[in-house]
Amino acid sequence: MNVSHITLRQFLLNEAKLHGLDLDLVLLLEDLATTCRIVSHQVRRGALFQNLGAMSSTNIQGETQKKLDVIANDAFINHCTNCSRVAALISEEVDEVIWIKENPRKGDYLIYFDPLDGSSNLDVNLSVGSIFSIIELKEDIDQTNETQVLRKGSEQICAGYSLYGPSISFVFTFGQGVNGFTHQTGTGEFRLTYPDLRIPEDTSEFAINASRYKLWDDPVRLYFEDLIAGKDGPRGRPFNMRWIASMVAEIHRILVRGGVFLYPVDSNNRELGGRLRLLYEVSPMAFIIEQAGGKASTGTERILDIEPKTLHQRSPVILGSKTEVEMAESYFK
Ligand code: AHG
Ligand code: MN
Ligand code: MN
Ligand code: MN
Repeated sequence: MNVSHITLRQFLLNEAKLHGLDLDLVLLLEDLATTCRIVSHQVRRGALFQNLGAMSSTNIQGETQKKLDVIANDAFINHCTNCSRVAALISEEVDEVIWIKENPRKGDYLIYFDPLDGSSNLDVNLSVGSIFSIIELKEDIDQTNETQVLRKGSEQICAGYSLYGPSISFVFTFGQGVNGFTHQTGTGEFRLTYPDLRIPEDTSEFAINASRYKLWDDPVRLYFEDLIAGKDGPRGRPFNMRWIASMVAEIHRILVRGGVFLYPVDSNNRELGGRLRLLYEVSPMAFIIEQAGGKASTGTERILDIEPKTLHQRSPVILGSKTEVEMAESYFK
């Protein structure tokens, strides 16, 4: 092992000194890392402990919950509440805000999370992950008013994800670049393996659920047609396609080797406003992508500037390598 692979704790203490991070935030991030280790452990048990399969319950999105969606959600709730400054939790799997504090004060934290992303991949043993986002209150808020947790992505002070793939990755930003860690089996440590991740500006790889081609609006269809037109088409080169159906896995690939990920509004999801949820899927990933030098857009607007109106609001999303996102945006003009 390379000696420069410092532990998560060493890294956090260095960052805290360098950027004046609050100790509470550092400890909260450690708790989030622990949560992800626990979720990963449960995912890895797979079919052995009856962890796979569906529950009889549905979440507010109308999705049938998987057993592991619920197990992961419980793990997040249990560990996020260790930090005395956590005022509220917002989860994909819980309809309403989970208030932890009666009188949330300036300086308290709101945590948004997708406990398990890509959960349709669970039963077939493919990569899944978890996503989280933290906002620090700049003022006291009223617990009875749910709209107070509807915050723009640009207010995030931290966002991250963990990917439960062949190894466990833990990647996050405090708004000063993006760093990626790999779980070391045996010691249980996360070690810094991807310092200062930067997304290549250009790419020849894209990710979209192409089975929805007929449902797309013209800008997306035209952009896609140009991507697959090959070297004789307007892009003048062949593009490669990947679709894992697990946003965390797509974003991780894009952070490491570049690419563009799209989940647009289409005629089947137009009333909902898209497929992916703004507060705990799209915004945190947009923050991470921007911090790595990429771009995150709806096609017509910067993701981090969207004013959310509802808790489980959805958003179209195009994110990844900067020039390719700009190219996709040009089709919307
Ligand atoms: P979740 O499992 O948290 O509900 O999220 C699923 C998401 C996301 O990870 C992925 O990009 C997308 O749904 C997959 O959509 P398709 O069903 O269109 O493949
Ligand atoms: Mn879901
Ligand atoms: Mn998800
Ligand atoms: Mn989920």
